[in-house]
Amino acid sequence: MLLPESHQRLQLIQQAGQLIDDYYQRLEELPVTPEITSREIRKFLEPVDFEKEKDLSEVLDSTYEALRDWGLKVPHPGYYGLFNPAPSFAGILADLLAAALNPQAGAWHHNPFGVEMERHLIKYFAGRFGLPVDQAYGSFTSGGSEANSTGVLIALTRQFPAFTRQGLRALPGQPVFYCSEEFHHSFEKIAHTCGLGRDAVHTIKTDNDYRLRADLLQQTIQTDREQGLMPFMVVATAGTTNAGIVDPLDDIAAICREQSLHLHVDAAWGGAVILSDKLKGQLAGIEHADTITVDPHKFLSVPMAAGMLIARNGRWLADTFHIETAYVPESSEVGMDNYRLSHQFSRRLIGLKLFMTIASVGRRGYAKTMEHQVEMAGYLAQQLAERNWRVVADTSLAIVCFEDTNLDGRPHQQRSNAQAAMVDHVVGSGRAWISVTQIADRPVIRVCVTSYLTQTRHIDELVLLLDAARDSVDSVTD
Ligand SMILES: Cc1ncc(COP(=O)(O)O)c(C=O)c1O
Repeated sequence: MLLPESHQRLQLIQQAGQLIDDYYQRLEELPVTPEITSREIRKFLEPVDFEKEKDLSEVLDSTYEALRDWGLKVPHPGYYGLFNPAPSFAGILADLLAAALNPQAGAWHHNPFGVEMERHLIKYFAGRFGLPVDQAYGSFTSGGSEANSTGVLIALTRQFPAFTRQGLRALPGQPVFYCSEEFHHSFEKIAHTCGLGRDAVHTIKTDNDYRLRADLLQQTIQTDREQGLMPFMVVATAGTTNAGIVDPLDDIAAICREQSLHLHVDAAWGGAVILSDKLKGQLAGIEHADTITVDPHKFLSVPMAAGMLIARNGRWLADTFHIETAYVPESSEVGMDNYRLSHQFSRRLIGLKLFMTIASVGRRGYAKTMEHQVEMAGYLAQQLAERNWRVVADTSLAIVCFEDTNLDGRPHQQRSNAQAAMVDHVVGSGRAWISVTQIADRPVIRVCVTSYLTQTRHIDELVLLLDAARDSVDSVTD
């Protein structure tokens, strides 16, 4: 019952293939944002009676339509969003294969090919980042949050040997770590869940370009030590969530070396550009990292969920996650069991979608795609500058943050409200999804070219939408 007959399987796969193709053929004409209330969705769900069987073909059709119509269309060329990409087709096929064969990537002996394939990818990326390939190792994660959490746990384990068995209470002081004020908020949750407490995250002010101020970092570490706190790690961000800013990695690395602190680089989004010879210079200094987060499900355009944590020394993973169990058989390949090297036990073969994408498009294909997205952002920045929008934060990656110069001199709240109203106007058109954010207290509109399908005509359309939004909001606020 759970496995239909062969001819039905083929029909269903063909039907699913047709639906996916229909989605991508029509994507551009569909609205990016749904107009929907929870009431309507519940009205659809309530009659779904789990006491009765239903033909899978019908379930497939109706579920596809619900997913298509009642959610943001993330792959849409007009989705300028929060790093969720248009997925590569190779990645879609890989996820289908991974679901169908259901390989258990937790232990080498359960899926030698899967584990070796992920090892190959991790070593490849470690080499691109300039880490020592022989020693470096890592693991695929559910995303950036798990990878960052892995980085923090490795740092605690490295810095405080008593932490492993006795926990934080064995330490003579409160451990603290540092991020710029533009950090990703996963670190707050991580500090909470690993028992450090949220106050253990010390944020450092940024300079005029929104990069962590290394001088203030140095001073804060000094003051914290004098107060009996125990600094153990610095997080540098390579591609901030707000604006794609890269912290001064070389300067931060020098401080970490001098102060014997673990350097974690959160390159969840920006790290992908290491594949592009043209863009990788943005990440100069990343080779000094002890651990790096890079998420294939962001700028590397594979379907969610896929993160990666790479450590300079693979032994640190084993030190942090090692366990002995009677119920998992020993693998003949020592040191290659993911369940002893990472948070997860049972795990999906996450790396397959990255493997099949990079194996088919090649590094250069990937590089060209990202360079195109960066070019689209540059084109947008130029169009905006010509129309009295002010681009804020100089990033050479694919994000543009900007403000309306017509609002100069108005109070903060008024600027913030007016720009939010403009964004609502654009989103309400159904042609584009953009958002508002604050960079160091400055209200801005944020556009990230997350879909590799975005072309200049989509940017032109967005610029017209923004101008119309500004006209309509200005006429109300004047
Ligand atoms: C810089 C950065 N780090 C970490 C994360 C968290 O990644 P995830 O959402 O995959 O957990 C994000 C998410 O956008 C991010 O931008």
